[in-house]
Amino acid sequence: MLGYDVDAGMTSVGLQSQTLPSENADVAVPTSQAVPLVIDDATADVLFRQARTVQAFSADPVADQDVHAAYDLMRWGPTAMNISPLRYLIVRSPESRERLVQHMAGSNQPKTKTAPLTIIVAADPAFHTRMDVLSPHLSEVAAGLAAAPEARAEMARMNALLQLGYFIPALRAVGLHVGPMTGFDAAAVDAEFFAESQWQSLVVMNVGQPAAEGAHYPRAARLEPAEVSATI
Ligand SMILES: Cc1cc2nc3c(=O)[nH]c(=O)nc-3n(C[C@H](O)[C@H](O)[C@H](O)COP(=O)(O)O)c2cc1C
Repeated sequence: MLGYDVDAGMTSVGLQSQTLPSENADVAVPTSQAVPLVIDDATADVLFRQARTVQAFSADPVADQDVHAAYDLMRWGPTAMNISPLRYLIVRSPESRERLVQHMAGSNQPKTKTAPLTIIVAADPAFHTRMDVLSPHLSEVAAGLAAAPEARAEMARMNALLQLGYFIPALRAVGLHVGPMTGFDAAAVDAEFFAESQWQSLVVMNVGQPAAEGAHYPRAARLEPAEVSATI
């Protein structure tokens, strides 16, 4: 099973002993930047600084059109050759929800069962079939890709993950909160939902408004620029 189950401390590479999140304290998140932003601080807070991963949601419903509104925004984020391979399946009905929950890891099951809406974010390895619209100047590349399924799968995965990184702040921009999860059996989800489309599931995301209590784990630190970068 890909990913991890926070409560069980299980990862795809084996068992890890983890400090229980509830034993940690919230770190302080700065309210402004050293270099002024071209967006206002309130927007930076909504998209990044104050935005939190939500573990428990209220019962407030989420409309498909709100998710589509987020897609409308995120689709303008760049991808290689503009291939735009991210696809999403909105899992709304109780029957569909049950079909998904059975493939989620441990503590991700109740989260997914009780969230008002869940989205399966996937990559489409057949993205080349839309390159006539997306990259009309690259028809020869598209033709070459038709005969290169392994390269397509790799490109689809990398660029759809990149788009996922745009999708999360875009969902926040339309007022939604998200709980992304990779702790699920991707092969089983693909067989369950994508046998026909051949989409490949990447992340399952619960979407909605935070519950009044227990919505978040304590906020954990992030690394400093000097710890994650070099200038040569
Ligand atoms: C790609 C991805 C996969 C994740 N998978 C899981 C998961 O399977 N289960 C879970 O409880 N949390 C999962 N998380 C949540 C992360 O642990 C959380 O987003 C991170 O600790 C930051 O939390 P914060 O936004 O509250 O600061 C995942 C997050 C991402 C972005």
